[in-house]
Amino acid sequence: MPDQEKTDVAVVDHPAEELTEQRIVVLDFGSQYAQLIARRVRELNVYCQILRHDIDAARLAEIAPKGIILSGGPASVYEEGAPKCDPGLFELGIPVLGICYGMQLTCEALGGKVDNTPSREYGPAKCQIGSTEDLFAGLPEEIDVWMSHGDQISSVSDTFEPLAQTGTCPYAAIRHRERPVFGIQFHPEVTHTPLGGKLLENFVCGICQCEPTWRLGDFAEATIARIRQQVGNRRVICGLSGGVDSSVVAAILYRAIGKQLSCILIDNGLLRKDEQSMVIHEFTEHFKTDLHVVDAEDRFLADLAGISEPQEKRRRIGHAFIDCFKAEATKIEDAHFLAQGTLYPDVIESGADPDGPAATIKLHHNVGGLPDELGFELIEPLRDLFKDEVRRLGLELGLPESLVWRHPFPGPGLAVRCLGEITRDKLSVLREADAIVVEEIQNAGLYRETSQSFAVLLPVQSVGVMGDARTYDNAIAIRSVNTNDFMTADWSRLPYDLLARMSSRIINEVKGVNRVCYDISSKPPATIEWE
Ligand code: XMP
Repeated sequence: MPDQEKTDVAVVDHPAEELTEQRIVVLDFGSQYAQLIARRVRELNVYCQILRHDIDAARLAEIAPKGIILSGGPASVYEEGAPKCDPGLFELGIPVLGICYGMQLTCEALGGKVDNTPSREYGPAKCQIGSTEDLFAGLPEEIDVWMSHGDQISSVSDTFEPLAQTGTCPYAAIRHRERPVFGIQFHPEVTHTPLGGKLLENFVCGICQCEPTWRLGDFAEATIARIRQQVGNRRVICGLSGGVDSSVVAAILYRAIGKQLSCILIDNGLLRKDEQSMVIHEFTEHFKTDLHVVDAEDRFLADLAGISEPQEKRRRIGHAFIDCFKAEATKIEDAHFLAQGTLYPDVIESGADPDGPAATIKLHHNVGGLPDELGFELIEPLRDLFKDEVRRLGLELGLPESLVWRHPFPGPGLAVRCLGEITRDKLSVLREADAIVVEEIQNAGLYRETSQSFAVLLPVQSVGVMGDARTYDNAIAIRSVNTNDFMTADWSRLPYDLLARMSSRIINEVKGVNRVCYDISSKPPATIEWE
């Protein structure tokens, strides 16, 4: 099965694999949080990897993780075609923690009586802990937890012992009576379960007895050595956007192969204010790279004309990007490899495995199709890393803080922040408003405290009054979020004075805007970008 092969390649081919035998695996049943679980485990300096839910128990035995976590998922265990795991994994003697859907599968597989009641629960709950050992060691008798499920277990047989409950969920946590197998109905990985980190630590370091051996410095050295070996004396092309990810990719490649690296910046006309000149400055100052800048604004805007559907925008941007990139890359002699800043979350949120159980949320244009079409061999040194790990790696590589801490910017750029149809005029309004948002956040000393702050141009006109005249102009939404992982996020509690300054500056300085709103939605259920 091709997808299984993909999983197997991931297991043997990544530098991370060589670094540590202390590994936890997460089997992904399609949860939007599967990667977040892995990230939480890595915060404990334990390497954690996501594998397909249906991996063979025999393969798992070869990988020999110290523990297995079964993620949540959108399905119901009794649904036709619901993703299942190989029940043989429970026979391996490896500790297992089932979360939400993973817990129900665990119960089902081990003969615990599971009656699913259709009691949907979404949001915060108080959880009473009956046993403060193992999973709950060092935790108080009541903890705040985050519930997000359709079904829940209403009774279990003697096989399992109940460990915790909430007002509506009698089996919020259970433990197998004979094996090191646990289940929890709530989500310990999200920040809304404040002591969830401690619970995962209890599982990973206590029950699974993992040693904290996962270090980014070691990862960098292993990756550099691997790139040198793979590249030999050939040339690597790296697409630069000026964002953190591509900068870190360029930095690690520069460390590995120096002058054999050529960088290409495609100015798609969707960049932020002054971004092109800043990238040129950074990548000829910090790195003396062979930098090729392609001015492709006309091409991109022509392709986007009349298009308002977000996924279609992404698709067209992806295609135009490939064309422009290819045209420039073919001018570079001896180019053999293409380096990309694909991250771990890009892979899951793209629904990279179309047969997998995860729902596709957004189609990220930097994943899928690109290498085949270009005919280059692909190098993705950050594919195993989360955003915060990429930043830390950037610092390890000697990148300046100003670059490493730059707020992320999506590949499709302002196109996904200019809602609806895109025009040059709208982009110009958005660009100016965005520059004010960022400048004011910086002036207030809050740039590092917020994770991503930007302006969005809404496809809405509203009535206003300026001077004595009636206006019928655009509305700008300010979006500022705080997050560690970009998979969940909360809106930033910006001071009113700051919001007032941004609003008044945008309305006064940006022609065509007469209203400014502040987006107070968290992710989930909203996403960070509006499209
Ligand atoms: P969302 O909007 O999905 O964003 O909550 C999570 C993070 O991903 C970035 N993002 C993208 N990055 N191509 C990218 O390279 C995309 O199409 C894309 N869409 C969102 C977003 O800016 C945030 O940091």
